[in-house]
Amino acid sequence: MTDTDTTTGGNRTRPVAFPQDRTCPYHPPAAYDPLRADRPLTRVTLFDGRPAWLVTGHAAARRLLADPRLSTDRTRDGFPVTSARLAAVRPRRTALLGVDDPEHRAQRKAVLPEFTLKRATALRPRIHRIVDERLDAMIAQGPPADLVSAFALPVPSMVICALLGVPYADHDFFEEQSRRLLRGPLPADVQDARDRLEGYLGELVDRKREAPGEGLLDDLVRKQEAEGAFDRDQLIAYAVILLVAGHETTANMISLGTYTLLGHPHRLAELRADPSLLPGAVEELMRVLSIADGLLRVATEDIEVDGRTIRAGDGVVFSTSVINRDETVYPEPDTLDWHRPARHHVAFGFGIHQCLGQNLARAELEIALHTLFARLPGLRLAAPAREIPFKPGDTIQGMLELPVAW
Ligand code: HEM
Repeated sequence: MTDTDTTTGGNRTRPVAFPQDRTCPYHPPAAYDPLRADRPLTRVTLFDGRPAWLVTGHAAARRLLADPRLSTDRTRDGFPVTSARLAAVRPRRTALLGVDDPEHRAQRKAVLPEFTLKRATALRPRIHRIVDERLDAMIAQGPPADLVSAFALPVPSMVICALLGVPYADHDFFEEQSRRLLRGPLPADVQDARDRLEGYLGELVDRKREAPGEGLLDDLVRKQEAEGAFDRDQLIAYAVILLVAGHETTANMISLGTYTLLGHPHRLAELRADPSLLPGAVEELMRVLSIADGLLRVATEDIEVDGRTIRAGDGVVFSTSVINRDETVYPEPDTLDWHRPARHHVAFGFGIHQCLGQNLARAELEIALHTLFARLPGLRLAAPAREIPFKPGDTIQGMLELPVAW
Protein backbone atom coordinates (compact mmCIF):
# COMPACT_ATOMS: atom_id res chain seq x y z
CA MET A 1 0.00 0.00 0.00
CA THR A 2 1.44 3.37 -0.94
CA ASP A 3 0.60 6.98 -0.25
CA THR A 4 -0.58 7.45 -3.80
CA ASP A 5 -2.77 4.38 -3.66
CA THR A 6 -5.83 6.29 -2.60
CA THR A 7 -8.45 5.34 -5.11
CA THR A 8 -8.62 1.58 -4.58
CA GLY A 9 -10.96 1.91 -1.62
CA GLY A 10 -14.06 2.93 -3.54
CA ASN A 11 -15.66 5.76 -5.36
CA ARG A 12 -13.88 8.69 -3.71
CA THR A 13 -10.57 10.14 -4.75
CA ARG A 14 -9.49 11.65 -1.43
CA PRO A 15 -9.54 9.46 1.64
CA VAL A 16 -11.20 10.83 4.77
CA ALA A 17 -9.00 11.54 7.80
CA PHE A 18 -9.49 9.09 10.68
CA PRO A 19 -10.15 9.63 13.53
CA GLN A 20 -12.04 12.92 13.72
CA ASP A 21 -13.86 14.68 16.56
CA ARG A 22 -17.56 14.10 16.93
CA THR A 23 -19.80 17.16 16.66
CA CYS A 24 -22.55 15.53 18.72
CA PRO A 25 -21.21 13.14 21.36
CA TYR A 26 -23.67 10.39 20.43
CA HIS A 27 -23.26 10.49 16.66
CA PRO A 28 -20.22 9.66 14.54
CA PRO A 29 -18.64 12.77 12.99
CA ALA A 30 -20.56 14.01 9.94
CA ALA A 31 -17.26 13.69 8.08
CA TYR A 32 -17.65 9.90 8.34
CA ASP A 33 -20.88 9.95 6.28
CA PRO A 34 -19.04 9.15 3.02
CA LEU A 35 -17.45 6.19 4.78
CA ARG A 36 -20.88 4.79 5.49
CA ALA A 37 -21.57 4.78 1.77
CA ASP A 38 -18.41 2.82 1.12
CA ARG A 39 -18.82 -0.61 2.69
CA PRO A 40 -17.34 -2.97 3.61
CA LEU A 41 -13.88 -1.51 3.22
CA THR A 42 -12.47 1.89 2.39
CA ARG A 43 -9.30 3.91 2.72
CA VAL A 44 -8.53 6.60 5.27
CA THR A 45 -5.57 8.78 6.19
CA LEU A 46 -4.18 8.54 9.71
CA PHE A 47 -2.92 11.46 11.82
CA ASP A 48 0.64 11.06 10.50
CA GLY A 49 -0.53 11.14 6.87
CA ARG A 50 -0.18 7.40 6.37
CA PRO A 51 -2.97 5.55 4.62
CA ALA A 52 -4.83 2.62 6.17
CA TRP A 53 -7.77 0.42 5.38
CA LEU A 54 -10.93 1.23 7.29
CA VAL A 55 -13.40 -1.61 7.78
CA THR A 56 -16.95 -0.22 7.59
CA GLY A 57 -19.21 -3.24 6.90
CA HIS A 58 -20.64 -5.36 9.72
CA ALA A 59 -20.22 -8.83 8.18
CA ALA A 60 -16.70 -8.09 6.94
CA ALA A 61 -15.77 -6.67 10.36
CA ARG A 62 -16.79 -9.81 12.20
CA ARG A 63 -15.02 -11.97 9.61
CA LEU A 64 -11.82 -9.92 9.77
CA LEU A 65 -11.77 -9.50 13.56
CA ALA A 66 -11.76 -13.31 13.76
CA ASP A 67 -9.05 -13.67 11.09
CA PRO A 68 -5.65 -14.80 12.47
CA ARG A 69 -3.91 -13.04 9.55
CA LEU A 70 -4.62 -9.73 11.31
CA SER A 71 -2.30 -9.06 14.23
CA THR A 72 -2.70 -6.80 17.28
CA ASP A 73 1.04 -6.74 17.92
CA ARG A 74 1.62 -3.00 17.86
CA THR A 75 5.39 -3.38 17.52
CA ARG A 76 5.00 -4.90 14.02
CA ASP A 77 5.90 -2.75 11.03
CA GLY A 78 2.84 -1.16 9.46
CA PHE A 79 0.74 -1.23 12.64
CA PRO A 80 -1.66 1.71 12.24
CA VAL A 81 -1.06 4.52 14.69
CA THR A 82 -4.01 6.84 15.19
CA SER A 83 -2.44 9.49 17.46
CA ALA A 84 0.93 10.82 18.60
CA ARG A 85 -0.02 9.53 22.03
CA LEU A 86 -0.30 5.95 20.82
CA ALA A 87 2.98 6.28 18.93
CA ALA A 88 4.66 7.20 22.24
CA VAL A 89 3.70 3.98 24.02
CA ARG A 90 3.69 1.67 21.02
CA PRO A 91 6.89 -0.19 21.95
CA ARG A 92 5.60 -0.95 25.48
CA ARG A 93 4.53 -4.43 26.40
CA THR A 94 0.75 -4.70 26.33
CA ALA A 95 -0.86 -7.78 27.85
CA LEU A 96 -3.81 -9.45 26.09
CA LEU A 97 -4.67 -6.74 23.58
CA GLY A 98 -1.10 -6.48 22.30
CA VAL A 99 -0.39 -10.19 21.71
CA ASP A 100 -1.49 -12.76 19.15
CA ASP A 101 -2.25 -16.44 19.58
CA PRO A 102 -0.93 -18.77 20.89
CA GLU A 103 0.52 -16.43 23.55
CA HIS A 104 -2.76 -14.54 23.75
CA ARG A 105 -4.73 -17.72 24.46
CA ALA A 106 -2.52 -18.55 27.44
CA GLN A 107 -2.73 -15.00 28.80
CA ARG A 108 -6.50 -14.87 28.49
CA LYS A 109 -6.95 -18.28 30.09
CA ALA A 110 -5.16 -17.05 33.22
CA VAL A 111 -7.72 -14.29 33.88
CA LEU A 112 -10.89 -15.55 32.19
CA PRO A 113 -12.50 -17.21 35.26
CA GLU A 114 -12.83 -13.78 36.92
CA PHE A 115 -14.75 -12.34 33.98
CA THR A 116 -17.40 -14.97 33.26
CA LEU A 117 -21.12 -14.14 33.26
CA LYS A 118 -21.42 -16.13 36.47
CA ARG A 119 -18.80 -13.96 38.21
CA ALA A 120 -20.41 -10.77 36.93
CA THR A 121 -23.79 -11.96 38.21
CA ALA A 122 -22.29 -12.76 41.61
CA LEU A 123 -20.83 -9.24 41.73
CA ARG A 124 -24.21 -7.54 41.16
CA PRO A 125 -25.10 -7.00 44.85
CA ARG A 126 -21.72 -5.41 45.42
CA ILE A 127 -22.11 -3.19 42.35
CA HIS A 128 -25.56 -2.18 43.67
CA ARG A 129 -24.08 -1.16 47.01
CA ILE A 130 -21.37 0.91 45.33
CA VAL A 131 -23.91 2.61 43.05
CA ASP A 132 -26.19 3.44 46.01
CA GLU A 133 -23.33 4.78 48.12
CA ARG A 134 -22.11 7.05 45.33
CA LEU A 135 -25.63 8.35 44.74
CA ASP A 136 -26.12 8.94 48.48
CA ALA A 137 -22.94 11.01 48.51
CA MET A 138 -23.89 12.94 45.36
CA ILE A 139 -27.40 13.67 46.63
CA ALA A 140 -26.04 14.79 50.00
CA GLN A 141 -23.87 17.40 48.30
CA GLY A 142 -26.13 18.62 45.52
CA PRO A 143 -27.81 19.61 43.37
CA PRO A 144 -26.04 20.52 41.16
CA ALA A 145 -23.31 17.91 40.65
CA ASP A 146 -20.81 16.84 38.01
CA LEU A 147 -22.06 13.35 37.23
CA VAL A 148 -18.67 12.30 35.82
CA SER A 149 -16.64 12.93 38.98
CA ALA A 150 -19.44 12.15 41.45
CA PHE A 151 -20.79 8.97 39.88
CA ALA A 152 -19.74 7.80 36.39
CA LEU A 153 -16.03 7.54 37.21
CA PRO A 154 -16.06 6.35 40.86
CA VAL A 155 -18.52 3.47 40.28
CA PRO A 156 -16.45 1.42 37.78
CA SER A 157 -13.27 2.53 39.50
CA MET A 158 -14.45 1.11 42.84
CA VAL A 159 -15.71 -2.07 41.17
CA ILE A 160 -12.44 -2.82 39.36
CA CYS A 161 -10.43 -1.98 42.50
CA ALA A 162 -12.47 -4.51 44.49
CA LEU A 163 -12.07 -7.11 41.75
CA LEU A 164 -8.33 -6.66 41.27
CA GLY A 165 -7.38 -5.98 44.89
CA VAL A 166 -6.16 -2.41 44.20
CA PRO A 167 -6.72 0.04 47.11
CA TYR A 168 -9.42 2.53 46.09
CA ALA A 169 -7.74 5.05 48.37
CA ASP A 170 -5.19 5.46 45.54
CA HIS A 171 -7.86 6.30 42.96
CA ASP A 172 -6.87 9.95 42.49
CA PHE A 173 -3.43 8.77 41.47
CA PHE A 174 -4.36 6.00 39.02
CA GLU A 175 -7.34 7.84 37.54
CA GLU A 176 -5.08 10.78 36.78
CA GLN A 177 -2.45 8.52 35.17
CA SER A 178 -5.13 6.74 33.11
CA ARG A 179 -6.44 10.11 31.98
CA ARG A 180 -2.96 11.19 30.89
CA LEU A 181 -2.37 7.81 29.21
CA LEU A 182 -5.56 8.00 27.18
CA ARG A 183 -5.64 11.72 26.48
CA GLY A 184 -2.11 13.01 26.73
CA PRO A 185 -1.75 15.73 25.66
CA LEU A 186 1.99 15.32 24.90
CA PRO A 187 3.76 12.04 24.04
CA ALA A 188 6.22 12.63 26.93
CA ASP A 189 3.27 13.02 29.27
CA VAL A 190 1.86 9.70 28.10
CA GLN A 191 5.17 7.91 28.64
CA ASP A 192 5.50 9.42 32.09
CA ALA A 193 1.95 8.34 32.99
CA ARG A 194 2.71 4.80 31.86
CA ASP A 195 5.95 4.77 33.88
CA ARG A 196 4.13 5.96 36.99
CA LEU A 197 1.33 3.42 36.59
CA GLU A 198 3.82 0.59 36.07
CA GLY A 199 5.85 1.76 39.08
CA TYR A 200 2.77 1.93 41.29
CA LEU A 201 1.41 -1.46 40.19
CA GLY A 202 4.89 -3.04 40.46
CA GLU A 203 5.12 -1.97 44.11
CA LEU A 204 1.59 -3.16 44.75
CA VAL A 205 2.33 -6.58 43.26
CA ASP A 206 5.53 -6.83 45.35
CA ARG A 207 3.56 -6.02 48.51
CA LYS A 208 1.05 -8.71 47.59
CA ARG A 209 3.87 -11.21 47.27
CA GLU A 210 4.67 -10.52 50.93
CA ALA A 211 1.06 -10.55 52.07
CA PRO A 212 -1.40 -11.86 49.49
CA GLY A 213 -5.04 -10.78 49.80
CA GLU A 214 -8.28 -11.51 48.01
CA GLY A 215 -8.20 -9.85 44.57
CA LEU A 216 -7.40 -11.08 41.07
CA LEU A 217 -3.89 -9.59 41.23
CA ASP A 218 -3.31 -11.58 44.44
CA ASP A 219 -4.43 -14.73 42.61
CA LEU A 220 -2.05 -13.95 39.77
CA VAL A 221 0.82 -13.44 42.23
CA ARG A 222 0.05 -16.82 43.79
CA LYS A 223 -0.15 -18.40 40.33
CA GLN A 224 3.14 -16.82 39.35
CA GLU A 225 4.87 -18.18 42.42
CA ALA A 226 3.32 -21.64 42.14
CA GLU A 227 3.67 -22.19 38.40
CA GLY A 228 6.20 -19.62 37.23
CA ALA A 229 3.94 -19.18 34.20
CA PHE A 230 4.82 -15.49 33.78
CA ASP A 231 7.28 -12.95 35.13
CA ARG A 232 6.89 -9.74 37.18
CA ASP A 233 6.76 -7.52 34.08
CA GLN A 234 4.00 -9.66 32.68
CA LEU A 235 2.04 -9.35 35.89
CA ILE A 236 2.41 -5.58 35.77
CA ALA A 237 1.30 -5.54 32.14
CA TYR A 238 -1.86 -7.46 33.15
CA ALA A 239 -2.49 -5.04 36.00
CA VAL A 240 -2.13 -1.97 33.74
CA ILE A 241 -4.61 -3.11 31.11
CA LEU A 242 -7.15 -4.47 33.58
CA LEU A 243 -7.08 -1.36 35.73
CA VAL A 244 -7.21 1.14 32.87
CA ALA A 245 -9.68 -0.77 30.65
CA GLY A 246 -11.72 -1.66 33.71
CA HIS A 247 -12.69 1.85 34.74
CA GLU A 248 -12.19 4.35 31.89
CA THR A 249 -14.40 2.60 29.35
CA THR A 250 -17.39 1.92 31.59
CA ALA A 251 -17.16 5.42 33.10
CA ASN A 252 -17.50 6.89 29.61
CA MET A 253 -20.49 4.69 28.83
CA ILE A 254 -22.24 5.78 32.04
CA SER A 255 -21.68 9.50 31.38
CA LEU A 256 -22.43 9.38 27.66
CA GLY A 257 -25.32 6.95 28.20
CA THR A 258 -26.89 9.35 30.70
CA TYR A 259 -26.40 12.34 28.37
CA THR A 260 -27.96 10.37 25.51
CA LEU A 261 -30.96 9.26 27.57
CA LEU A 262 -31.57 12.83 28.74
CA GLY A 263 -31.49 13.89 25.08
CA HIS A 264 -34.11 11.22 24.18
CA PRO A 265 -36.91 11.76 26.75
CA HIS A 266 -39.39 9.43 24.98
CA ARG A 267 -36.91 6.58 25.01
CA LEU A 268 -36.15 7.29 28.65
CA ALA A 269 -39.86 7.28 29.54
CA GLU A 270 -40.25 3.95 27.76
CA LEU A 271 -37.39 2.50 29.78
CA ARG A 272 -38.76 3.84 33.05
CA ALA A 273 -42.18 2.35 32.32
CA ASP A 274 -40.74 -1.08 31.55
CA PRO A 275 -37.42 -1.91 33.22
CA SER A 276 -37.39 -5.29 31.45
CA LEU A 277 -36.21 -3.30 28.41
CA LEU A 278 -32.98 -2.48 30.25
CA PRO A 279 -30.65 -5.23 28.95
CA GLY A 280 -31.72 -4.47 25.35
CA ALA A 281 -31.31 -0.74 26.01
CA VAL A 282 -27.75 -1.24 27.22
CA GLU A 283 -26.91 -3.16 24.02
CA GLU A 284 -28.53 -0.45 21.89
CA LEU A 285 -26.64 2.29 23.73
CA MET A 286 -23.42 0.32 23.24
CA ARG A 287 -24.18 0.05 19.52
CA VAL A 288 -25.13 3.67 18.95
CA LEU A 289 -22.42 5.20 21.14
CA SER A 290 -19.55 2.89 20.01
CA ILE A 291 -17.20 4.60 22.45
CA ALA A 292 -14.11 2.59 21.42
CA ASP A 293 -14.11 3.73 17.80
CA GLY A 294 -11.01 2.52 15.96
CA LEU A 295 -9.77 -1.02 16.68
CA LEU A 296 -6.29 -1.48 15.26
CA ARG A 297 -4.67 -4.38 13.39
CA VAL A 298 -1.91 -5.04 10.87
CA ALA A 299 -2.10 -7.71 8.15
CA THR A 300 0.53 -10.45 8.33
CA GLU A 301 -0.49 -11.96 4.97
CA ASP A 302 -2.44 -10.80 1.93
CA ILE A 303 -6.20 -10.93 2.57
CA GLU A 304 -8.91 -10.72 -0.10
CA VAL A 305 -12.00 -8.77 0.89
CA ASP A 306 -14.78 -8.35 -1.66
CA GLY A 307 -12.41 -8.19 -4.59
CA ARG A 308 -9.86 -5.96 -2.90
CA THR A 309 -6.56 -7.05 -1.43
CA ILE A 310 -5.28 -6.00 1.95
CA ARG A 311 -1.54 -6.55 1.55
CA ALA A 312 0.74 -8.02 4.20
CA GLY A 313 2.02 -5.06 6.25
CA ASP A 314 -1.06 -2.88 5.63
CA GLY A 315 -2.68 -1.19 8.62
CA VAL A 316 -6.34 -2.03 9.18
CA VAL A 317 -8.66 0.05 11.38
CA PHE A 318 -12.18 -0.96 12.41
CA SER A 319 -14.56 1.96 12.90
CA THR A 320 -17.04 0.51 15.37
CA SER A 321 -19.31 3.55 15.03
CA VAL A 322 -19.60 3.10 11.25
CA ILE A 323 -19.82 -0.71 11.44
CA ASN A 324 -22.52 -0.53 14.11
CA ARG A 325 -24.60 1.70 11.85
CA ASP A 326 -24.53 -0.69 8.90
CA GLU A 327 -28.12 -0.32 7.67
CA THR A 328 -28.16 -3.81 6.16
CA VAL A 329 -28.03 -5.13 9.73
CA TYR A 330 -29.63 -2.25 11.67
CA PRO A 331 -32.45 -0.57 9.72
CA GLU A 332 -32.63 3.18 10.51
CA PRO A 333 -29.29 2.84 12.23
CA ASP A 334 -29.22 6.36 13.67
CA THR A 335 -32.42 5.78 15.65
CA LEU A 336 -32.27 4.55 19.24
CA ASP A 337 -34.62 1.57 19.48
CA TRP A 338 -34.73 -0.61 22.58
CA HIS A 339 -36.71 -3.26 20.72
CA ARG A 340 -34.21 -4.06 17.99
CA PRO A 341 -31.83 -6.99 18.41
CA ALA A 342 -28.61 -4.97 18.82
CA ARG A 343 -26.60 -7.70 20.53
CA HIS A 344 -24.38 -8.46 17.51
CA HIS A 345 -22.80 -5.02 17.56
CA VAL A 346 -19.00 -4.83 17.62
CA ALA A 347 -18.75 -2.18 20.36
CA PHE A 348 -17.00 -4.79 22.52
CA GLY A 349 -14.96 -5.98 19.53
CA PHE A 350 -15.19 -9.54 18.17
CA GLY A 351 -12.96 -12.59 17.89
CA ILE A 352 -10.21 -13.55 20.30
CA HIS A 353 -9.76 -10.01 21.66
CA GLN A 354 -13.44 -9.41 22.26
CA CYS A 355 -13.75 -7.43 25.48
CA LEU A 356 -12.77 -9.51 28.48
CA GLY A 357 -14.81 -7.27 30.80
CA GLN A 358 -18.05 -7.20 28.80
CA ASN A 359 -20.14 -9.16 31.32
CA LEU A 360 -18.94 -6.90 34.09
CA ALA A 361 -19.50 -3.76 31.99
CA ARG A 362 -23.07 -4.83 31.13
CA ALA A 363 -23.87 -5.47 34.80
CA GLU A 364 -22.41 -2.10 35.82
CA LEU A 365 -24.27 -0.21 33.10
CA GLU A 366 -27.61 -1.83 33.84
CA ILE A 367 -27.34 -1.18 37.56
CA ALA A 368 -25.86 2.33 37.29
CA LEU A 369 -28.34 3.65 34.70
CA HIS A 370 -31.38 2.00 36.24
CA THR A 371 -30.62 3.17 39.78
CA LEU A 372 -29.66 6.68 38.71
CA PHE A 373 -32.95 7.33 36.90
CA ALA A 374 -35.05 5.46 39.49
CA ARG A 375 -33.66 7.42 42.43
CA LEU A 376 -33.56 10.78 40.67
CA PRO A 377 -36.76 11.00 38.60
CA GLY A 378 -36.17 14.70 37.99
CA LEU A 379 -32.60 14.27 36.71
CA ARG A 380 -31.77 16.91 34.09
CA LEU A 381 -28.83 18.69 32.54
CA ALA A 382 -27.69 21.70 34.56
CA ALA A 383 -26.17 23.44 31.50
CA PRO A 384 -27.24 23.82 27.86
CA ALA A 385 -26.50 20.48 26.13
CA ARG A 386 -24.43 22.20 23.46
CA GLU A 387 -22.05 23.67 26.04
CA ILE A 388 -21.19 20.44 27.83
CA PRO A 389 -17.67 19.32 26.89
CA PHE A 390 -16.98 15.84 25.57
CA LYS A 391 -13.86 13.91 24.59
CA PRO A 392 -11.93 14.34 21.35
CA GLY A 393 -12.17 11.75 18.58
CA ASP A 394 -8.76 10.16 19.06
CA THR A 395 -9.59 8.56 22.40
CA ILE A 396 -12.43 6.64 24.04
CA GLN A 397 -15.59 8.69 23.61
CA GLY A 398 -17.40 10.13 26.62
CA MET A 399 -18.22 13.29 28.51
CA LEU A 400 -15.48 15.40 30.10
CA GLU A 401 -18.03 16.80 32.54
CA LEU A 402 -21.74 16.29 32.96
CA PRO A 403 -23.40 19.01 35.07
CA VAL A 404 -26.74 17.70 36.34
CA ALA A 405 -29.50 18.77 38.72
CA TRP A 406 -32.58 16.92 40.02
C1 HEM B 1 -18.55 -0.35 28.32
C2 HEM B 1 -17.32 -0.58 28.63
C3 HEM B 1 -16.31 -1.23 27.73
C4 HEM B 1 -16.11 -1.09 26.38
C5 HEM B 1 -16.89 -0.24 25.40
C6 HEM B 1 -15.00 -1.94 26.02
C7 HEM B 1 -14.52 -2.12 24.73
C8 HEM B 1 -13.56 -3.04 24.37
C9 HEM B 1 -13.19 -3.37 23.03
C10 HEM B 1 -13.81 -2.74 21.77
C11 HEM B 1 -12.23 -4.31 23.07
C12 HEM B 1 -11.55 -4.98 21.87
C13 HEM B 1 -10.39 -4.17 21.37
C14 HEM B 1 -9.80 -4.73 20.09
O1 HEM B 1 -10.21 -5.77 19.61
O2 HEM B 1 -8.89 -4.06 19.56
C15 HEM B 1 -11.96 -4.58 24.46
C16 HEM B 1 -11.00 -5.44 24.92
C17 HEM B 1 -10.68 -5.57 26.25
N1 HEM B 1 -11.39 -5.06 27.33
FE1 HEM B 1 -13.02 -3.90 27.26
N2 HEM B 1 -14.52 -2.54 27.15
C18 HEM B 1 -15.29 -2.14 28.21
C19 HEM B 1 -15.17 -2.54 29.54
C20 HEM B 1 -14.15 -3.31 30.03
C21 HEM B 1 -14.00 -3.69 31.41
C22 HEM B 1 -14.95 -3.34 32.56
C23 HEM B 1 -12.85 -4.41 31.49
C24 HEM B 1 -12.36 -5.02 32.76
C25 HEM B 1 -11.17 -5.34 33.06
C26 HEM B 1 -12.29 -4.52 30.14
C27 HEM B 1 -11.12 -5.16 29.79
C28 HEM B 1 -10.74 -5.43 28.49
C29 HEM B 1 -9.57 -6.23 28.14
C30 HEM B 1 -8.58 -6.84 29.12
C31 HEM B 1 -9.53 -6.31 26.74
C32 HEM B 1 -8.50 -7.04 25.89
C33 HEM B 1 -8.99 -8.46 25.70
C34 HEM B 1 -8.05 -9.33 24.90
O3 HEM B 1 -7.22 -8.83 24.13
O4 HEM B 1 -8.17 -10.56 25.00
N3 HEM B 1 -13.11 -3.83 29.29
N4 HEM B 1 -12.80 -3.80 25.24
